[in-house]
Amino acid sequence: MADRTPYWIAGSPETSDDLVDVRNPYDGRVVGQTANATPEQVENAVAAAASVAPDAARLPAAARAAALDHVSRRLAERGDEIAALISAENGKPLMWAKAELGRAVSTFRWAAEEARRFSGELMRLDTDPAAAGRMAVVRRFPKGPVLGISPFNFPLNLVAHKVAPAIAVGAPIIVKPAPATPLSALLLGELLAETDLPAGMFSVVPVPNERAAALVADPRLPVVSFTGSGPVGAQIQAAVPHKHVTLELGGNAAAVVCSDYADLAWAAQRIALFSNYQAGQSCIAVQRVIVHRDQAEAFVPKLVSAVQALKTGDPAAADTQVGPMISEAAAERVQSWVDEAVAAGATVLTGGTRDGATYAPTVLADVPADAKVACDEVFGPVLVVSTVDSDEAAFAAVNDSAFGLQAGVFTSNLQTAFAAHATLQVGGVIVGDVPSFRADQMPYGGVKGSGTGREGLRSAMDDYTDPRVLVLTGLQL
Ligand code: SIN
Repeated sequence: MADRTPYWIAGSPETSDDLVDVRNPYDGRVVGQTANATPEQVENAVAAAASVAPDAARLPAAARAAALDHVSRRLAERGDEIAALISAENGKPLMWAKAELGRAVSTFRWAAEEARRFSGELMRLDTDPAAAGRMAVVRRFPKGPVLGISPFNFPLNLVAHKVAPAIAVGAPIIVKPAPATPLSALLLGELLAETDLPAGMFSVVPVPNERAAALVADPRLPVVSFTGSGPVGAQIQAAVPHKHVTLELGGNAAAVVCSDYADLAWAAQRIALFSNYQAGQSCIAVQRVIVHRDQAEAFVPKLVSAVQALKTGDPAAADTQVGPMISEAAAERVQSWVDEAVAAGATVLTGGTRDGATYAPTVLADVPADAKVACDEVFGPVLVVSTVDSDEAAFAAVNDSAFGLQAGVFTSNLQTAFAAHATLQVGGVIVGDVPSFRADQMPYGGVKGSGTGREGLRSAMDDYTDPRVLVLTGLQL
């Protein structure tokens, strides 16, 4: 049995008797143990965040940046150990865990750089005669302590996207990690505890989801940043309409293969890999591929071969590309959605089988538009192929969705790329690659059912702060 991992209350390690075993989804073995924070400990975390908030907002940029740089450096130094931990608790193959670790290093480094740059702006006001001699200084100040609720699919980097911008602006943060994958967030707490940040500036509190509502409702936490499912996001927004709520919700991301695109082997290989990375458990995993009819005959066999070539198996093996889903129940749900589509007329081009928590990489064609695999978020290794007669029809098909997070457009034509950017109802358009591309400094978020607000360091820093104008008068300009 592994040692019990403490959680972090106002910067100090604590534990309780309400033990939580963390299991590897691949083989069910216990990979760590922590505990749920007691209500008193949660209260202490919130009270400390509220009480340190005024001092936190005044922390010099050098202090905030030093703490962020420290975490970035320590993540890199302990990279192999942390990647193994991510893989063990989440089940994602080591190669994806290493990629996540590398991104978290970058997320904290970017936050340090943004903290140093976060200066506000000067705005001249003497554009009207009545305001002669006047100038405004516009600076942003934290709204107050942030509650970050993070999902299981990126147990480190999506926690980093809550924590790093909060520290960068001088806002205390309380993280509630996903119950299935708390260990990476707790390790981040350990690294934060090595910094000189004041007590109360951060807490990492594992609590069951049923206890999150009280944190969401707590008036001392005016900002709620949630990444997770649409129904839970909607509940949060309805529960606290007066709070600043950022929602990073789901998607059923599409990749379009346009009429002009020549490198079909590249498109097939990228779409195959990124519909199945992390067993499809990414909000921007490719779920729908929309192919111009002139390309379909050449493209679809390449796609199916590329999917069949993916290496599935033990996430701890260096060459495994597709591992298990987060639980057997999750894989059973995907199985039932595929079965439903097949019963409604869909054709299985490859896959369609399950072994415990592992669902085989699957490609479906002839899927009815109202099947869940087409119109809902699968969050599993399933790709739905459809063909259209024009690039315009492909863009309309991308938009025919309740979601709008990111889209990939395989084109080499500048006009088509700009048309996609102007037309697609999404938060990001990736030209020449899959929708799954994300650089951590990019504004990241969606429209429609994919949420509201943007992550990406600078965007989240804006989200966590309010602008405050200082008007100076009688100036010689
Ligand atoms: C998500 O699943 O929304 C996050 C995707 C990413 O950070 O790459």
